[in-house]
Amino acid sequence: MPLLPELPRVQDAVELLDAPLSSSDLEESLGDISRLNRYFGGSWVTRSHLVRLLRTRRGEPVTVLDVGSGGADIPVRLVCWARRRGVSLRVIAVDRNCQILEVARRRAAAYPEICFVQADGLQLPVRAGGVDAAISSLTLHHLEPDAAPTLLAEMARVSRRGFVVNDLIRGRVAYALVWLATRLFAWNRMSRHDGPLSVLRAYTSREIVALAERAGVSPIRIRRHPLLLRLAVVGGGR
Ligand SMILES: C[S@@+](CC[C@H](N)C(=O)[O-])C[C@H]1O[C@@H](n2cnc3c(N)ncnc32)[C@H](O)[C@@H]1O
Repeated sequence: MPLLPELPRVQDAVELLDAPLSSSDLEESLGDISRLNRYFGGSWVTRSHLVRLLRTRRGEPVTVLDVGSGGADIPVRLVCWARRRGVSLRVIAVDRNCQILEVARRRAAAYPEICFVQADGLQLPVRAGGVDAAISSLTLHHLEPDAAPTLLAEMARVSRRGFVVNDLIRGRVAYALVWLATRLFAWNRMSRHDGPLSVLRAYTSREIVALAERAGVSPIRIRRHPLLLRLAVVGGGR
């Protein structure tokens, strides 16, 4: 029996990244997210589960779709990883926000393996099984419980081999550490606001199982990475 009750999920809060933004705030905030992903292993969580899901052979072409790709730092890191290993990887980076996509395009200019598409993750413009795998990072918590199952269903629909959703763990320790990390390593006020709020908006494992059931997506596996304050939801694969 836990000593403290579970933190309730904060509903209907607006993160500043989802509001209208100046381009300098946006650039700085996406830079902060990228730095925090790097320092705290956010990209590693996605990559490690993705690699297990795909089990690619050298030279075999692979297409991955990233929903809510933000500043594209996860696509860029995946491409760097694939280049080093001789994997022929294409990434379709999808985001609903055209301002964010513009920044991402600039940041990823040296990576022609990545193409950018403005679309809603709740209605992906891709045929069923059109990509090998779908990923998303720090995006599920942006959706309220009425919409989140649709994101899972869309990721399952478009991916032949499976999907990986990576998001924050909701809890007091994660909240305190993200609050501190955003004071130490984030330069923009938006990141300091959105980081701790993202923890409070994140879904617990139990809630994600319920979302996946509502989405008709099963089986899923949930792997917690408490030291990295993340959990990964993996659908498909073995
Ligand atoms: C916190 S950022 C995460 C960026 C990146 N995935 C990462 O981990 O660094 C969340 C991104 O999801 C995007 N997003 C939120 N809801 C979305 C939706 N329904 N469809 C597509 N993109 C969405 C936002 O525009 C934002 O760029």
